Amino acid sequence: MTTPRVLRTPDEVRWFVNDLRRRGQTLALVPTMGFLHDGHLSLMREGRARCDVVAATIFVNPTQFGPTEDLTRYPRDPVGDLAKCGSAGATVVYSPEPATVYPPGYQTYVNVEQVSQGLCGDRRPGHFRGVATVVTKLLALFRPNVALFGEKDYQQLQVIKTLARDLELGVEIVGMPTIRESDGLAMSSRNTYLSADDRARALSLSKGLFAMQAAAKAGETDVAKLLALGLAPLTQANVKLDYLEVRDAQTLEPLTTLTKERSARVLVAAFLGTTRLIDNLALTVS
Ligand code: PAF
Repeated sequence: MTTPRVLRTPDEVRWFVNDLRRRGQTLALVPTMGFLHDGHLSLMREGRARCDVVAATIFVNPTQFGPTEDLTRYPRDPVGDLAKCGSAGATVVYSPEPATVYPPGYQTYVNVEQVSQGLCGDRRPGHFRGVATVVTKLLALFRPNVALFGEKDYQQLQVIKTLARDLELGVEIVGMPTIRESDGLAMSSRNTYLSADDRARALSLSKGLFAMQAAAKAGETDVAKLLALGLAPLTQANVKLDYLEVRDAQTLEPLTTLTKERSARVLVAAFLGTTRLIDNLALTVS
């Protein structure tokens, strides 16, 4: 394994990208906020399978955190992350300072209108504006052939697919399946905040989603009945629900009935203590 080269400025990225283009090589980009787990590494491995070179970014993006959120205590592990990026096939890691990305006088933001509404968009005002802005900047800077994101942040993935399409960025946005712990908990950098008790209660999220998925597969199409099934483990575990909703898998419009023609997704957010976790699954009617 070779340790990836760390790039700190847009100029360094441009030199790297221009050199790569001169050689005729293709590029996969994996944007992250660091504290990497197997979910992130699966994106880098897939990037390596699809392209000649993989670039990862590690940047805890301040514009996507609300004033009461966990920006200052967001977990960081720069040394460990670099080794993990190398092991998963990344050649470079772009890790700029916040003032490099948002210098004094910065005033340009990207707002993706419809898919940013509802769900996390309502609960975390300004969050997707921050995500869309930083991802657009990274895509414009790297001009990758492919950029990979986890389905765990499902609404974020739809926001990014929409901005790449609308702004004609010429990049393929690839969504990769959520990687789970052996007991079903979706991997997340925020799982590190959980106490042992919260960690055990957090299993109710995936338990509820899998119960809904099994019922849909068995023929249940009534969304109200499916939601009652998904809610039961959350109530039993006494977690504070933020939302549990069934939406169209692409447009994220609310659904009341599942049909074979329209793919559906169930999305959940809940608090375990002060930690907010999200998860989602596809619902397919047989
Ligand atoms: O999913 C994340 O880690 C972040 O939201 C992203 C896409 C890297 C933008 O900061």
